[in-house]
Amino acid sequence: MAGSASVHLSQRLAERLSVDLIEAEVRSFADGELYVRVPENLEGEDVILVQTTYPNEMLLELFLLQDALTDSGAASLTVVMPYFAYGRQDRRFQKGEAISSRAVARRVEIAASRVITVDVHNKRVMDYFNVPATEVSGMPALARYLENQGVDMVLAPDENAARWAKLVGELMKISWDYLKKQRIDSWTVETEEKPLEVGGLKVAVVDDVISTGGTMASAAKILRDQGAKDLVAGCVHGLFVKGAKDRLKAFDEVVCTDTVYNAHSRASVAHELAQELSGLT
Ligand code: R5P
Repeated sequence: MAGSASVHLSQRLAERLSVDLIEAEVRSFADGELYVRVPENLEGEDVILVQTTYPNEMLLELFLLQDALTDSGAASLTVVMPYFAYGRQDRRFQKGEAISSRAVARRVEIAASRVITVDVHNKRVMDYFNVPATEVSGMPALARYLENQGVDMVLAPDENAARWAKLVGELMKISWDYLKKQRIDSWTVETEEKPLEVGGLKVAVVDDVISTGGTMASAAKILRDQGAKDLVAGCVHGLFVKGAKDRLKAFDEVVCTDTVYNAHSRASVAHELAQELSGLT
C-alpha cells in the first residue's frame, strides 16, 4: 500500500515484486488534521506499507496508516520507510534532549512486523527497533545513474560520507576521496581545504542527505577553486529545504533518489528494496 508521500516509489516497487498496489485514501480536515482510510479489504493479507517520513506531516500519516492497517486484519505489516525522519538526532548531544530517532522507532514498531529503511545517517538507529529492522543502501542506485554521466571522480563532502563515496567510486570503478567538515549550526558548515587534483575533471559529490545544501556548497567551493570542470551533487535523500536551490547553484546537476520524491529524483531505490523484500540480498 502506498502512503501519499511514496506513490511513485510504491508503483515501481509493486511492478518489480509483481504485487497489487493500492493507494491509501488521505485527506486533510479543515483544521489541517489528517484523515486516512484503507480503501480495500486486506484481511489475512501480507501487506507492505511504503511511506516516507518527510516532511513532518508524512510521519504522522505513517502512524495513522499503520493503525488503520493493523485494524484491517492484515496477516503481517512490513513498513518501508524510505527516509527515516529524525535519523540525525541519533543520540543525546546535550543533557535533556530527546533521542528523536529512538522515539520514532518506538512508535513505528508498535504496529509493524518488520521495518525496512534506506541509508540511515548512523547505523545505531537500527538498534532502536525491537522488531526486525533492515537498512538498504540507495548508493548503488545513485551509482547506476552517475555511470552514464561521464563522472571522473567521486568525493564525500565530510568524513561520515566517506563510506558512501567509497562504495559509489568502487561500483563505478573510478577514484574517490573525502573532505573533512565541521558543522557550526544547522545552516553553517566549515570544510577543510585539501589538494584534490581535480583540474578539468567532472566530480560527483555524494552524501546521504542534502538538506540546506550548505555541506554541498562548501565542497563545491573547494572543487571550483581547484579547477574542477563539472560538478554533480548526488544524494539518496533530497530534502532541499528553503534556500537549498540557491546554495546548490555551483553545481551543474543535482540528483537524488526517490526516497523523497521531487524534481531531482532521477534514480530509484525500487530495485534495492525489491531485493530486500524478496529475500534476495
Ligand atoms: C550530515 O552530516 C549529513 O550527512 C549531511 O551532510 C547533512 O545532513 C547535509 O545537510 P545540509 O545540506 O544542511 O548541509
